Amino acid sequence: MMRAVIHASVLYTGAGIRKKKGRRVKDEDLGMIPDGAIVFSVKRVGKQEVPNKIEWVGPTKDLPQRFKKIKKTDLRGRRALIPGLIDCHNHLIFGGDRSDEFALRCAGATYQEIAARGGGIQTTVNATRAASAEELERLAVLRLKELYSFGVRTVEIKSGYGLSLESELKVLKLIPKLRRKFPQMQLTATFLGAHAIAKEMSGEDYFDLVLNKMLPEVARLKLADACDIFVDEGYFTVRQARILLTQAKKLGLKIKIHADELGDTGSASLAAEMGALSADHLLKISANGISDLAKSETVAVLLPGTAFYLKAPHAPARKLLDQGAKVALSTDFNPGTCMCLSLPAVMTIAALYLGMSRSEIFAAVTFNAAQALGLEDATGTLEAGKRADFAVLDFERFEELYYRFAWSPR
Ligand code: NIG
Ligand code: FE
Repeated sequence: MMRAVIHASVLYTGAGIRKKKGRRVKDEDLGMIPDGAIVFSVKRVGKQEVPNKIEWVGPTKDLPQRFKKIKKTDLRGRRALIPGLIDCHNHLIFGGDRSDEFALRCAGATYQEIAARGGGIQTTVNATRAASAEELERLAVLRLKELYSFGVRTVEIKSGYGLSLESELKVLKLIPKLRRKFPQMQLTATFLGAHAIAKEMSGEDYFDLVLNKMLPEVARLKLADACDIFVDEGYFTVRQARILLTQAKKLGLKIKIHADELGDTGSASLAAEMGALSADHLLKISANGISDLAKSETVAVLLPGTAFYLKAPHAPARKLLDQGAKVALSTDFNPGTCMCLSLPAVMTIAALYLGMSRSEIFAAVTFNAAQALGLEDATGTLEAGKRADFAVLDFERFEELYYRFAWSPR
């Protein structure tokens, strides 16, 4: 079955971004088609009709004769059509909240001080361990609905608030269930057992558990697409990252690093060297780290909502972009450092404080975010043959997504 959406105010294909592999993108790479149309196949999932593959994209007036009779949605020139947004770094599944720690931070305590007192990630680990799978699923469903309402169609979901074999599996096993509940979205799973050291164990013992018990089990059960590790002082070292990620690659997983966030550990360079899909955060990345990433295929995933929420200096986005790095933007949604599901709000911060242009922001939440998940052949641009992951905006132009600040979807 085929469907069409016609008379979009502007349809943005993003095709030029793909041709440049997401580096040094300019306005002409957005593939803007005024009065655009898209034709796509749909599949039935239960009672729901879900977009499947893109058949054709172009100006409405050029709609081929063979599609003239199919069911169409007319946007009357008032709404823009874009590739579905991609949130490529999201800690979606956790229990509890940290509003009391937020109040402490507002009164002057630092994130690291709170963590050192047994709060921080550990607070959320306690709540996530205590929560039932049903409760975690209920929360995740609400969060995915909110992301969808902002135009997000692909979401990366990290584990990392279980920190025991049982609890990490409890979280990861929810993701296939969520996929069945959200056939209109694409959900990827990232194993982040190395998010923090479980309080009941020494650092070395916990790392050994992650490497030798959790990772093999997660891979055997095929519960994750990628493996991630938080490299920072008080968390995990570059040496441990090299060991864990080497093993993850052997088991067929893609790799990612929470890199150079609280301090410069050289982990962005490690990500580039190991061929990681992405190096994320990068608030404290060094000049070497920047040039290593720029020369590599590894995507620099910037999370300016987190810098904003931590009142930390922003990542050196302009240096990365000007040296030709692939740059993506994401929410980093989590209860400690960015309790925010609005990817558009993150785009506003990127425009104002990272100095990113419209085309750079567009690429960062579409094709480059797809590259950060290894999904660029399937999604991230609107081109025939790709997944029909698109979003119809309530606005006439893409940039209104972030020119309006902190808006709520209707
Ligand atoms: O991506 N950096 C590590 N992890 C999260 C924060 C997790 C938390 O505080 O709960 C992040 O910022
Ligand atoms: Fe994160």
